[in-house]
Amino acid sequence: MKTHTLLMPLDMHLHLRDGVMLENVAPLTAYSFSGAIVMPNLVPPVSTLEDIQAYKKRIMAAVPNDFFEPYMTLFYKNYDKAFLESVAGELTAIKLYPAGITTNSEGGVSSFDIEEMRPTLEAMSALNIPLCVHGETDGFVMDREAEFMSIYELLASNFPDLKIIMEHITTKEAVDMLEKHDNLYATITVHHLLLTLDDVVGGMMMPHNFCKPIAKRPQDLDALLSIALEAHPKVMFGSDSAPHPQEKKESCGCAAGVFTAPIALQLLCEIFEQYNKLDNLQAFISDNAQNIYGICPEFKEVILEKRAFVIPEHYSNVVPMYAGQAINWAIASVD
Ligand code: NCD
Ligand code: ZN
Repeated sequence: MKTHTLLMPLDMHLHLRDGVMLENVAPLTAYSFSGAIVMPNLVPPVSTLEDIQAYKKRIMAAVPNDFFEPYMTLFYKNYDKAFLESVAGELTAIKLYPAGITTNSEGGVSSFDIEEMRPTLEAMSALNIPLCVHGETDGFVMDREAEFMSIYELLASNFPDLKIIMEHITTKEAVDMLEKHDNLYATITVHHLLLTLDDVVGGMMMPHNFCKPIAKRPQDLDALLSIALEAHPKVMFGSDSAPHPQEKKESCGCAAGVFTAPIALQLLCEIFEQYNKLDNLQAFISDNAQNIYGICPEFKEVILEKRAFVIPEHYSNVVPMYAGQAINWAIASVD
């Protein structure tokens, strides 16, 4: 049987939530990933040293073993330097949300006034704290990410020593932006390597494919595939796996978020094999992230095998992407 081994998989953009949902989803990621960047958009958001420490403890209590590192993040506000110095040792990045742009982002940034942000962003540059950005404006839904490119330019050129990660990119414009500034990097989800808008609303409306940023055009999908498959050194895998209870997805007013944590490695194997690029998957799933973030995850070896695997209809009360569908790769073992 054909197999493929991945070492120390990392998920550089993950929503673990809290409470019962955290207990349900954290073990699924901890099983097959060495570590994950954990998003801070709880209610209320993770924004103090105590919040980070307590949330990390709850995450560790929810995972069955110690071979999983939650890389903690703080919800961006215009923090002062003294505060950032006091928390730098406890976090891996700070996540910036434009106010109201996605789930639980109401307390985000409402105006991108560079001078207002300068003290915080200069302190982050000095302390080598990366800035992860949800890059969408409040414009027309298909144009939101492309419209945000001017803000990325502003941030990247004003703070050349700040590592800026364009999170979950979905457009050719974002792919092109990577080449324009040395300090811009990106994460890419697995669902954005598979879906276009057609898979969300082209036929019947598919709530489990609906997320922010929304899947775009075929040419955007092609641009994302080209840099992911070559494992461009400035891109890394970030699932943006965002669990919502089934009733919040299959309802009038569907919450944004696609749940992929337990199926991401299998789907990535399928995509990379399809394009004959399996050899590049290790860089995309771990090595690039280690280089970009300067992190050194605990050893974990995941062996996948090529055989039919039917994606479960549910993981507790969360419906994954492609629920009930058969795919070609399965996890054989984890050590
Ligand atoms: C995320 C969530 O549910 O927290 N939703 C999503 O559609 N991706 C938030 C986010 O990353 O935008
Ligand atoms: Zn997210």
